[in-house]
Amino acid sequence: MTPSDFADRVVRWQAAHGRCDLPWQGTRDPYRVWLSEIMLQQTQVATVIGYYARFLARFPHVRALAAAEPDEVLALWSGLGYYSRARHLHRCAQMVAREHGGVFPQSAAELQKLPGIGRSTAAAIAAFCFGERAAILDGNVRRVLTRVLGFGADLVQAANERALWRQAQQLLPQTDVQLAMPRYTQGLMDLGATVCLAKNPQCDRCPLADLCVARRQGDPQRYPVRTRQIKRRVEAWWLLLYLDGGRRCWLAPRPPRGIWAGLYCPPVQMQPVGSDVLGSNAAVKALAVVTHALTHRELQLHPVVIRGAEPSSSPQGAWFGHDEWQRLGLPAPIRRLLDALCGE
Ligand code: ADE
Repeated sequence: MTPSDFADRVVRWQAAHGRCDLPWQGTRDPYRVWLSEIMLQQTQVATVIGYYARFLARFPHVRALAAAEPDEVLALWSGLGYYSRARHLHRCAQMVAREHGGVFPQSAAELQKLPGIGRSTAAAIAAFCFGERAAILDGNVRRVLTRVLGFGADLVQAANERALWRQAQQLLPQTDVQLAMPRYTQGLMDLGATVCLAKNPQCDRCPLADLCVARRQGDPQRYPVRTRQIKRRVEAWWLLLYLDGGRRCWLAPRPPRGIWAGLYCPPVQMQPVGSDVLGSNAAVKALAVVTHALTHRELQLHPVVIRGAEPSSSPQGAWFGHDEWQRLGLPAPIRRLLDALCGE
């Protein structure tokens, strides 16, 4: 396999079989491409589409986003998860507005200096908007490349990760770069998302099948190799859902650091609400446990509904009616609980 053969195949396959009608395609506007890439970092395309449209409607350009209140950005982000993305997004917009005159820098190296833009995201923006020869290596692309190359070294080790980046860079298109780079970049993403699937790779539909070392070996799912699995620490939280007579709920902003930083949430306690309290008081009722996975934690949420009382200490909290909390930034599991409790 020569690098140009590899790139040609990806480019031709993208033109014939890749995705071409996603809302952030067909533009070279870095603001739009950046917004979509940040949203797509840890979230599926189907989920991102609605959020992307609402963000653009409310913030049509980077200056509008820069001028927004942090709470409004969090509220529009609410449900997408990984909220540090929303805070970085806002800070990035403010840096572009203040330090770059409202114009995104035009190279991957400069883009990567902005908050929330890592190496792969910087490369994706630079390839899509400016045709720069910069390699991406997100989770999907990592899977495609390690399989095609038969790259079996453990990616937990930084030296191996660097070696894969070097290979990714060597495989980039070498001719007609301006036109080829956006298509090539999208093609690798599309292959990872639609063909080279983690669990059941569709090798019969893959333009790289006859080059693919993993396929020849007969077990594509061996790749990528990572020895250290993420272990999530289990943490139990008791969520105190205070409801008043008007079906309003008591919510307070979370601390500025840590889980769900800055989002609105019912008071949380780390100790069980005792069975003595639950048993003796008809106004207090435990609901079914909800588990919620974060990057490093598995939260076991124990919702406890408390009617007709107010928390004794929750200084920044307040009562919010349905119409009000709908506009706040809430963690997705909290929003679902409140929807179920207070009616939609
Ligand atoms: N995932 C990350 N970037 C993407 C893009 N531009 N299109 C589809 N999925 C993606």
